[in-house]
Amino acid sequence: MSQGDGADRVVLRVLSGEAQARPPAWMMRQAGRYLPEYRAVRAKAGSFLDLCYNPDFATEVTLQPIRRFGFEASILFSDILVVPDALGQNVRFVEGEGPRLDPMAGRAEFERLRQADDPAIFSHLAPVFETVRRLRAELPRETTLLGFCGAPWTVASYMIGGRGTPDLAPSRALARHDTALVEALIDRLVTVQTEYLVRQLEAGADAVQIFESHAGSLPDARGAAEPEEAPVNDVAESALPETGPRDALTRWSLQPIARMIAGVRARVPGAKIIVFARGSGLDGHARVVPETAADAVGVDWSVDLAALRGRVPASTVTQGNVHPETLIEGGAALDAAVDGVLAATDGLPHIFNLGHGITPQTPIAHVEQMLKRLRG
Ligand code: CP3
Repeated sequence: MSQGDGADRVVLRVLSGEAQARPPAWMMRQAGRYLPEYRAVRAKAGSFLDLCYNPDFATEVTLQPIRRFGFEASILFSDILVVPDALGQNVRFVEGEGPRLDPMAGRAEFERLRQADDPAIFSHLAPVFETVRRLRAELPRETTLLGFCGAPWTVASYMIGGRGTPDLAPSRALARHDTALVEALIDRLVTVQTEYLVRQLEAGADAVQIFESHAGSLPDARGAAEPEEAPVNDVAESALPETGPRDALTRWSLQPIARMIAGVRARVPGAKIIVFARGSGLDGHARVVPETAADAVGVDWSVDLAALRGRVPASTVTQGNVHPETLIEGGAALDAAVDGVLAATDGLPHIFNLGHGITPQTPIAHVEQMLKRLRG
């Protein structure tokens, strides 16, 4: 973080626990296909990964939603899957289908990944740090710049499955059949991504968000669809008797995230960190801050925000929760959703956001309506 600038940045103030009369706002996936100016740059850039690794284009698309809507936070344009790409796994984005990776089916593929201390990983990611530097120089002084990465379990599940399978059967199966291998992969991701976040903060990010988009696939996550197979922690716990019983959410998600957060703060004291644990249910959301020491919990749209606020201490910082489909719907439903968030977080530290990323079919006018309602 650039010294002395924090006081201007409302999102940082909320992350320090200060409630605001009107919460500051940003949107997950705020740079994206719902914006014509994004689509224009995307068409020039070539592949999606070319866009992520081109500091000119990545800086431009990051700034677009700030210019248009004046969000109080700007999130670096990149993707959580640049890390597997930097580790040497083949990653590509198939138009209309999403990400595809050559699946890490077993030990042979794991052995081919770069070691955590291989300098090639961070030379590969150098354009991302260049984008962060340019953004901090070009953004309005009061706009908080967020860096990010994926949580180890979410990134590992893409690496193992090769794609975002709905129930993450491949990663849950591998966690059961070769627990040590999945642990080794998680360890590699903890080490590499701790360094990745540190370098984003050193390049000028004010805070970072860790995206655990697949917390819901863990068998103990409340509110998640129950997996048909035996839960992974049947084996996982018996394989680690000396650590005592720990449930799957703690073991595969919250604990690796906690290690990353401790590692980042050891290098960047006081670093501000948000954790978005999508699909972890009311219980899972309530456990994020106490179990990881994050500064804020990102709340998905499926959780009752008022109920969550009732469960956690008043000092807990929350972020987000408007359903992306309500944003598509607009009208009275959207106004009611904004009012609902304001009522649930009145007098409490909260950052306004959606409960998952904005989707391409969202009308721009609805984003404007939402911000008008919020800002009064
Ligand atoms: O929030 C932002 O604006 C910052 C940029 C950002 C992107 N992806 C850009 C993107 C961030 C923070 C992400 C995180 C990400 N990427 C997550 C975690 C958050 C979540 O949504 O759950 C995940 C799971 C991914 C992996 C990923 N990348 C998927 C599943 C997809 C396909 C989805 C789709 O809409 O096609 C992507 C591609 C992607 N990442 C796009 C954007 C804007 C769309 C690509 C395009 O322009 O064609």
